[in-house]
Amino acid sequence: MADLVIRNSHLVLPEGVVDAGLVVDDGRITDIIKDSGLPQADTIVDAGGNYVLPGLIDPHVHMREPGAVSKEGWVTGSKAAVAGGFTTVFDMPNTQPPTSSIEELAKKRELVKDKSLVDYGFHFAVTQDNLDELRNLSGDIASVKFYVCSTVGSLIIENDAVIYEAFKILAGKGLLATIHAENQVMIDYWMNKLKDSGEEITPLLYARTRGNICAADSLNSLIYLSKSVGVKLHVAHLSTREEVQLVRKFKDEKLSAEVSPHHLYLGLDDVNSMGSYSKVNPPLRSKADRNALWEGLFDGTIDMIASDHAPHLRESKEKDIFAASAGFPELETTLPLLLNDTHNTRLTIELIAKLASENPARVFRIKNKGRIEKGYDADLVIVDMNREKKVLEDELYTKCGWSPYAGRKLRGWPLKTFVRGRLVYDDGIIYEENKGLEVSYY
Ligand code: NCD
Ligand code: ZN
Repeated sequence: MADLVIRNSHLVLPEGVVDAGLVVDDGRITDIIKDSGLPQADTIVDAGGNYVLPGLIDPHVHMREPGAVSKEGWVTGSKAAVAGGFTTVFDMPNTQPPTSSIEELAKKRELVKDKSLVDYGFHFAVTQDNLDELRNLSGDIASVKFYVCSTVGSLIIENDAVIYEAFKILAGKGLLATIHAENQVMIDYWMNKLKDSGEEITPLLYARTRGNICAADSLNSLIYLSKSVGVKLHVAHLSTREEVQLVRKFKDEKLSAEVSPHHLYLGLDDVNSMGSYSKVNPPLRSKADRNALWEGLFDGTIDMIASDHAPHLRESKEKDIFAASAGFPELETTLPLLLNDTHNTRLTIELIAKLASENPARVFRIKNKGRIEKGYDADLVIVDMNREKKVLEDELYTKCGWSPYAGRKLRGWPLKTFVRGRLVYDDGIIYEENKGLEVSYY
């Protein structure tokens, strides 16, 4: 007798979609066979002829705990995750205090345990003066994050020598360096120029102070530094056509990249209507950039989608563009936005599984996740490709309570989410008794 059987489904396997059933025991997939051969089980789920995807893995979320639990927290954030079909998330280190010491990492581990509904991992932060902490790090983290510009939180490395030294340490340990690449000196120059001009500073003018060249120049330099010491480099939220070209040119097994939904589904045309709500780092970009990002996803230059779920309360967004906080909540809308696109673009359900599950698991070396395959964790999401529904803010689980996609009608929504074989989200109902675990790395 198996623990769980899922029947009547189109399984999105690494090699393509097959009509078959799944057998799950002790949280792992133990068999993939035709429905007629499925065994008896404690729980039998009829997938209703829908697609079953490997649970989505989000390598870039800001759960805000510790420090800003008024904006989010692991309870609400992980509810948003399961409602959005995510079964694993990696938390960014720009919390308060930041995750930049082994002691703070241990504290964060304690704090997340028993709160998260999804499996999880942590990014560690580099600062101007924590190289000794890096030297003592063990391999049980997703990556080490480098903020080379100022963004939400207080983390910024202002000296390339520190980056170089840190890259050398990580190369020696085989750890991945994740970068937020925007050149702060350039940003400051254009920001000051704008302030001095006396012009009224609109959100659009503000976005231009962090133009494409700021991201591309920073990335170019960081790729050079990474190649010179042989560290593995992962580019967070690629947003410009210039960065796509750079990654394409230097792409090898030590260079990977992610793109966030807002850089695919929002753009400069939205800045006027959104006002200060449009503020995000890196900023929203042009149509030409968005097209280049899609090309990068289709040709394999960009490895994955990462939500950069960065919730801020309305009161933090409803300020002038300087004072407003940067970032959007994304966990609940990323999969519906992607599924919706399968109906009218080149995007396929197989590519979604690769970009949002298989590739993040590969790049971040996560054991037993990212595929529907025998022996892998039964992290699964059943999606209804034909459910058509608007994004409604009062249905969201994120504590910030708003969405940049509110009112968009999307076709394709998650129905049920399983974490290691246990049903956690069932069409609007969340089961909270089973908690997530920290992932293992190979
Ligand atoms: C992020 C946040 O709010 O923590 N904001 C954002 O605009 N993306 C920080 C970051 O990832 O840069
Ligand atoms: Zn960032």
